Amino acid sequence: MNILKIGVLASGRGSNFQSIIDAIDGGRLRASIEILITDNPSAFAIERAKKHNIKYLFIDPKAFSTKDEFFEKIGNELKARGVDLVVLAGFMRIVRKPLIDVYRNKIMNIHPAILPSFPGLHGQRQALQYGAKIAGCTVHFVDEGMDTGPIIIQAAVPVFPDDTEDSLSERILKFEHKIYPEAIRLFSEERLEIEGRIVKVKGHPEFSSSIVNPPIEEP
Ligand code: GAR
Repeated sequence: MNILKIGVLASGRGSNFQSIIDAIDGGRLRASIEILITDNPSAFAIERAKKHNIKYLFIDPKAFSTKDEFFEKIGNELKARGVDLVVLAGFMRIVRKPLIDVYRNKIMNIHPAILPSFPGLHGQRQALQYGAKIAGCTVHFVDEGMDTGPIIIQAAVPVFPDDTEDSLSERILKFEHKIYPEAIRLFSEERLEIEGRIVKVKGHPEFSSSIVNPPIEEP
C-alpha cells in the first residue's frame, strides 16, 4: 500500500498530534501528515505543525451559516489533499454527516475514558466524580453519535484515592500517546476489519487491542 496520508483535526494543545508526529519520525508509523486543520486560531497544535513543517489550515466555524457547511468544507480540504485517514486529536466538536459520509470508517477519535462510559466532555472528571476505580482511554472510529463508533483500542489505568482531575488526566494521557499511533499503524497496515460495531485486528493472533496498566504499588 502507498504511504498513508493523514489529516489531523485539533482544537488545542495537540499532544496527541505530537505523539503521531513522533511515531512517524521514529519510524514506528509509516504515514505522512498532509494537513492539520484547526477550528481555533490560537491552538498550540499550530506551533507543533510549524515546528515540523506540516501544513496547517484554520477554518473558522463562524464563517459558515450551518455546522454541516463547516464540515463539508473540512471534507473538501481533506479530499483535495488526498487524505486517506482523518485523525481527531482533541478536536472539540461533534463531527457532522457531510464529513462522515465522505470518510465513512476512515475517521478516528481518541477519548479520555473507557467508552461507552463517560462520553462527551471531561471524561476524566466524570470518571472521578462517579467513583470509578478504573479509568482510561479509547480510540474509536467516528460515527454520527457522540463517542459511539466502533472501538479499536482501549487502555486502562487505575484511579487512586487521592487523584485530582489533573493527576488522573496525566496518567491517562500517557496511554493516549501510546494507543493512538498504534491504532493508526494498524489502519495503515490494513489490519482493521469492521463487522457491525466490532473491530477485528487481522493477521496477528497474539495482538490484543487493549492495554492494561496494573496498579503500580510498591510492596
Ligand atoms: C485529550 O485528552 C483527548 O483525549 C481529549 O482532549 C485531550 C486533547 O489533548 N479529547 C476529548 O475529550 C474528545 N472528547 P491534546 O490536545 O493534548 O491531544
